[in-house]
Amino acid sequence: MSDTFIHIENVIKRFGARAAVNNVTLDIGRGEFFSLLGPSGCGKTTLLRMLGGFAQPDSGRILIDAEDVTTLPPNRRPTNMVFQSYAIFPHLTVGENIGYGLRRQKLETSERDRRVDDALALIRLDGFGARRATELSGGERQRVALARALVMRPKVLLLDEPLGALDKRLREAMQVELRQIQRRLGITFVFVTHDQEEALSMSDRIGVMSGGRILQIAGPKMLYDAPNCREVAEFVGTMNLLPALVTGVSGGNVKVQSPVFGAFETVTAEPERYNAGQKILIALRPEKFEVVRAASSPHAIRGTLTAVSYLGDRHQFQITVENAEKPLLAGTHFDRSMDGAPFRSGEEIYVQWNPNEVVLLPKT
Ligand SMILES: Nc1ncnc2c1ncn2[C@@H]1O[C@H](COP(=O)(O)OP(=O)(O)O)[C@@H](O)[C@H]1O
Ligand SMILES: [Mg+2]
Repeated sequence: MSDTFIHIENVIKRFGARAAVNNVTLDIGRGEFFSLLGPSGCGKTTLLRMLGGFAQPDSGRILIDAEDVTTLPPNRRPTNMVFQSYAIFPHLTVGENIGYGLRRQKLETSERDRRVDDALALIRLDGFGARRATELSGGERQRVALARALVMRPKVLLLDEPLGALDKRLREAMQVELRQIQRRLGITFVFVTHDQEEALSMSDRIGVMSGGRILQIAGPKMLYDAPNCREVAEFVGTMNLLPALVTGVSGGNVKVQSPVFGAFETVTAEPERYNAGQKILIALRPEKFEVVRAASSPHAIRGTLTAVSYLGDRHQFQITVENAEKPLLAGTHFDRSMDGAPFRSGEEIYVQWNPNEVVLLPKT
């Protein structure tokens, strides 16, 4: 992260007895694309609203650009918000919608028109200024809502699931566009989503939320490769999770005994979280498994293919193995074994794995 631009410190917001945001501390860098990711109801919108000044914390404070804004109203903050339900005015034109916020500022008409035109160009709706807002598609309307916020030249743009109402194709196109606009303008984006793929593909860093708390803050690759707890491992991507026992720790190496994986040793960045005798979970992504007919590694588990699903660019396998509660999930880009014959449901196979790709998780 570059220098801190937004500083959130011990922020709590309660509704009745429940804390919707429960003691969140978080720094966001200048010019960063930061996403808040989590399931519905985890407190994302509440936190975003407090950043924008639409709600106030019960305790804690919020600094933007080194200024304490905790109790300032929205119009006195360097922020602008794109709401989940993009409220654009149906009786106004596209240009009037975008210029709406500028009307309160004492700008020359020509200057205002120029800024509206710039904003239209930015969202690639040049020449749409005179169009009625009702004559727009969903995607165009969403872009107008974005332009209306950007035209105010905020230092921070807050976006609450802005692409949620769009179909998959349009959403993916808008993800790329949003990211490009953010890069070009260098504005700090705080982006709320419950869609993990969206967060992974767009963000510099992601804060994963659950029950009003932040569980982990990391870049997309780190979050995917090294989730720090079961909830994050389950929420981001697909993960095989199995119980295991720690049998020894020395340096960064942890010795593990697992009913399914057997005894093995792996490295961890946080050996202090583990000690001998501790029950833990081991996690491995489906694509880390290699499905083979003849085992060629000491780390091979014998199993039966119980389901083979074709997903277009790859296959997904369910593999029933001894001592596991659930079948293992394995994904592969190849639909054939080395000897050329396609895998079939019912076949006896081996899944091979690499001890250093196993993620250890404390059991909670
Ligand atoms: N104005 C409110 N009054 C009472 N409860 C609220 C209010 N706003 C949000 N909540 C509750 O706070 C929790 C977090 O909500 P929210 O921040 O909207 O979650 P998210 O955006 O992650 O879906 C939920 O349990 C929600 O019901
Ligand atoms: Mg929400």
